[in-house]
Amino acid sequence: MEVIISPTPEESARLGADIIAYAMKIKPNVVLGLATGGTPVCLYDELIRRRRDEQLDFAGVTSFNLDEYIGLPGDHPCSYRHFMQEHLFNKINMKPERTHVPDGMAVNIDQECLAYEHKIHAVGGIDVQVLGIGTDGHIAFNEPGSSLGSRTRIKTLTQKTREDNARFFEGGIDEVPRHCITMGVGTIMECRKLLLFAFGEGKAEIIAKAVEGPMTAMVPASALQMHQDVVILVDEAAGSKLKLHDYYNHIYANKPAWQKS
Ligand code: GLP
Repeated sequence: MEVIISPTPEESARLGADIIAYAMKIKPNVVLGLATGGTPVCLYDELIRRRRDEQLDFAGVTSFNLDEYIGLPGDHPCSYRHFMQEHLFNKINMKPERTHVPDGMAVNIDQECLAYEHKIHAVGGIDVQVLGIGTDGHIAFNEPGSSLGSRTRIKTLTQKTREDNARFFEGGIDEVPRHCITMGVGTIMECRKLLLFAFGEGKAEIIAKAVEGPMTAMVPASALQMHQDVVILVDEAAGSKLKLHDYYNHIYANKPAWQKS
């Protein structure tokens, strides 16, 4: 795992955008995996800026989002489809038909999950997947106890996740759905490159557990320790409880220039 501790979330976002822009340069029809939540917003802002100021071209890009609430239609202000339209898709030149978010209104959820896996497979898999992390260690909506080999499926949200996400819902926690569709940990592990972002003191403890703790289904993000190509992009606050904090900085400071893209 490569751990890059930046002074600010904006700097982490710039580094993440560099990695994504490089992937788009070497493969214009790159397949991106995208995430929701507060964390990736600065990354999306940076990508939007590069589209506007540097003509970064998203025309060939395909995307798959990690998850969606069950019971919220795509035009619901709290659905993840709506989030993506507002924070990224409406502001760059991606082709709408190439953006995929699970359908939380599907009549047959199991079929929707299977179809989602097939769609990812059909385009050759995900090249670069953006991830955040929940305070309980979830990635996408793979809550503690999730099988580390799991595929896209229905999950029941924990009370903690519903509380954390209640800030996005006008009516508070009562409006937060109890179920979701989420890519599995196994689905995520098949992506060629993973970028996990975390910012703020509130994420410090779980980042230390995920990166340096034992690999366990109780901290689904710890499965990333088994992935060959993961970059953990944290700000100082989120990286503050890492035992090897200084070593990670030393590695990054001494990284050969040719490895820096
Ligand atoms: C949600 C999403 C996750 C995200 C997590 C953290 O639960 N399903 O993909 O990583 O929230 O959110 P935030 O970035 O707002 O802390």
